[in-house]
Order: sequence, then structure tokens, then C-alpha cells
Amino acid sequence: MDNIIVTKDIHKSFPLGNKETIEVLKGIDITVPKGKLTILKGRSGSGKTTLLNILSMLDDPTEGTFFIDGEDMTKKSMTEKEMLRRYNIGFVFQSVALIPIMNAYENVDFALKLASYEGDRDERIKEVLGIVGLGKRMNHMPAQMSGGEQQRVAIARAVAHKPKIIFADEPTGALDTASGIAVMKLFKELIEKEDITIVMTTHDPNLMQLGDMVYEMEDGMCTEVKETKDAG
Ligand SMILES: Nc1ncnc2c1ncn2[C@@H]1O[C@H](COP(=O)(O)OP(=O)(O)O)[C@@H](O)[C@H]1O
Ligand SMILES: [Mg+2]
Repeated sequence: MDNIIVTKDIHKSFPLGNKETIEVLKGIDITVPKGKLTILKGRSGSGKTTLLNILSMLDDPTEGTFFIDGEDMTKKSMTEKEMLRRYNIGFVFQSVALIPIMNAYENVDFALKLASYEGDRDERIKEVLGIVGLGKRMNHMPAQMSGGEQQRVAIARAVAHKPKIIFADEPTGALDTASGIAVMKLFKELIEKEDITIVMTTHDPNLMQLGDMVYEMEDGMCTEVKETKDAG
């Protein structure tokens, strides 16, 4: 299997003030298969966001390295990382950060402009809003949509510029179970249609069977959870 991300002994410590530090990640060695849905599960405070922030280059590891498409990201300059984030990565967060004064169409359009999308923007906006099931609601404002619908706009926005990897931090955390499962199914569909890799975090054990690869984070370590498909 082709791995798009490989980490080598990633550690992350944060300063606590009085010259002490807290080590949140204690040697993470994981692989993320290309074109699949990888889930990082674990209790609140287990380090999921910290790891996702490192993999998406919002933060640097204290020690260790990681590779995306075979390239060592810890050797990249700030500018190179900024470019990779802008063009190759999409983000989805728990708190949907749609722009409230823009409708669904305009929210996606804005993201495409930020990413300097070179294709036909109008065509792409209609395509991605269609994939997330909001083709008929493109003119709706965020306030006119449910939480689940807003999250689907946010997902359309994250994939619109055709990134290679989507990082989603607790994308289902603010949704009811049905909307959460709908988001997961949408992720699966995007993987098929858009040739994309998705890495998401969750603290909900019920969602893990939907992952192609599942890791559990505990005490700063990350271990692969096997046979998730049979776990029920
Ligand atoms: N900037 C920071 N400074 C100090 N401690 C932090 C910082 N960011 C996260 N932590 C600590 O790291 C641990 C893991 O946090 P986090 O990665 O957000 O966990 P999760 O996303 O799994 O809930 C927590 O104990 C948190 O308090
Ligand atoms: Mg978190």
C-alpha cells in the first residue's frame, strides 16, 4: 500500500512556564495510506489535535521527522510549508468557520480564490456543492442551514481546490449521530470521486469502524487498532 504520510518518532513538548515542559507526543510512528480514510481516535486531551497540527504543518514537532509523498517536511522552509498548506492541504474543523455574510456558493468561491484556483471556478463550485448534496441550496446563507449542512459546505470548501490531503479535526464533534455518520459517508464518497486522502480525529468510538486505518492515541503514543470492521 502506498503511504502518503510517514512519521518517524515524533515528539512534542510544550513549555509550562516555570522552566518545566509537558510532553504531549512521546514518539509517534504512523503511516497514512494514500486514497484512504485514516482515523485518529482517543480521549479528549490525548494529543489528537497536537498531532494533526504537526502533520498539517501548523506547528512543528519538538523531535522527529515526517514525510509527505516521500519528502521530509521538517526540512522545508516556512515559505515552502505555507505553499504546501495552501495548495495541497484542506482543513475541516469542529466549529464550522463559514463566513456568515456569504452564501454557500460564495464561501466556496472565496476559498478557491485564496488558493489561486486556476480552473473554471463556477463549474468547480457547482460540482463540489453537488457532491456534498447542496446543489439546490447554493444561495443559502450559513444561518439558514443546519449544523450538518454547514459542515457539508465546509467540506466542499476544503476539497474545492483539489488538495491531496484533507485534515479534519473532530469534524463530527458538534453534530448529532445521524449528521455525523452522513459526514463520514461523504468522506468515503469524496475519497472515491476526488482521489483524496483524509485524516480525521474523533473521540467517538462508534465512528471508528468507518475508517480504513484507525489509530488510538493514549498517553502520548499512537497504536494501530486492528480489525475495526468486525468490532461492530
Ligand atoms: N500550546 C499548549 N501548551 C501547553 N499544553 C498544551 C498546548 N496544546 C495542547 N496542550 C496539552 O496537550 C494535551 C493534548 O492536547 P490536544 O492535542 O488538544 O488533545 P486532543 O485533541 O486529543 O483533545 C492536553 O493535555 C493539552 O492541555
Ligand atoms: Mg482536539
